[in-house]
Amino acid sequence: MPAISFQAVSKTYPSPRGGSLKALDGVSFDIEQGEFFGLLGPNGAGKTTLISILAGLSRATSGRVTVHGFDVQSDYAQARRHLGVVPQELVFDPFFNVREALRIQSGYFGVRNNEAWISELLESLGLADKAESNMRQLSGGMKRRMLVAQALVHKPPVIVLDEPTAGVDVELRQTLWQFVAKLNKAGSTVLLTTHYLEEAEALCGRIAMLKTGRVVALERTSELLKAASSNVLRFKLDGVLPAQFEGKARVTGRIVQLPAHDAHEIEQHLAVIRQAGLRVEDVEIRKADLEDVFLEVMSGKSGQAAAGVPA
Ligand SMILES: Nc1ncnc2c1ncn2[C@@H]1O[C@H](COP(=O)(O)OP(=O)(O)OP(=O)(O)O)[C@@H](O)[C@H]1O
Ligand SMILES: [Mg+2]
Repeated sequence: MPAISFQAVSKTYPSPRGGSLKALDGVSFDIEQGEFFGLLGPNGAGKTTLISILAGLSRATSGRVTVHGFDVQSDYAQARRHLGVVPQELVFDPFFNVREALRIQSGYFGVRNNEAWISELLESLGLADKAESNMRQLSGGMKRRMLVAQALVHKPPVIVLDEPTAGVDVELRQTLWQFVAKLNKAGSTVLLTTHYLEEAEALCGRIAMLKTGRVVALERTSELLKAASSNVLRFKLDGVLPAQFEGKARVTGRIVQLPAHDAHEIEQHLAVIRQAGLRVEDVEIRKADLEDVFLEVMSGKSGQAAAGVPA
């Protein structure tokens, strides 16, 4: 039985100017128990919408979602019990301190005598010294840690993290990933969305990419990396990038990064630049990473079949 099953999930929002917006358009895939799964996509792709439907906070317009076999609509309580969701938005009850809020959350799931686990969570997430602080007294990053603690308080087998590291410092990001990786090793399923693609590359065994509500790639991370252009030519440019590279190149100030399949393509790129009368400096060739693959998939240039989705 899969941990999570999305079956032809669509979601249409009424658009403010009349008409409607299709936030999700026939999304189907399964996440197996024990997977560390990444859901990637640009802003507005539909990631949070899909997670809200999974968490039973929002209703799909059509389609079906199950958690450990339980339908998130018709079997809400059972489905919800199997899920721990760290939401993207920071929302809190400002009246309680950290420990109290976790006790209340435990009670909500009918978990009694949870003090040992609550203490372990606070310790693991670097919140132990804030246990008696009111929620209003936490910094933004601490509030996000608290959201993680709240999601895990009932030891759910499926953990869903919607951009858990946005606004979180480097040290906590590492602690958080160590902790989540430990839970995953012990058998928990993890579904993660993030815009930090190096985190996704390092952590996720499998990845789905969403673009305007559709799955445009669904593949093992290692296969995704293989399917894309395997090399990247990186250099500093002293002028304007030739028009034919537009949409292909990753440009950061003067630094240009161009995907290339092989040595021949690298030579061609350099020839184009020479013909345009431009000079390059600090030339470097490196292996493509997940960010390169992501940009290639989103620009629609890599074949969808190569990315694991039949046309
Ligand atoms: N409650 C809502 N009412 C109307 N439209 C909505 C609502 N929630 C989301 N949308 C729209 O649905 C689309 C998908 O939004 P969603 O929040 O799922 O994107 P996302 O992939 O999570 O993006 P981000 O990376 O910015 O978090 C967007 O066009 C958004 O404007
Ligand atoms: Mg979102």
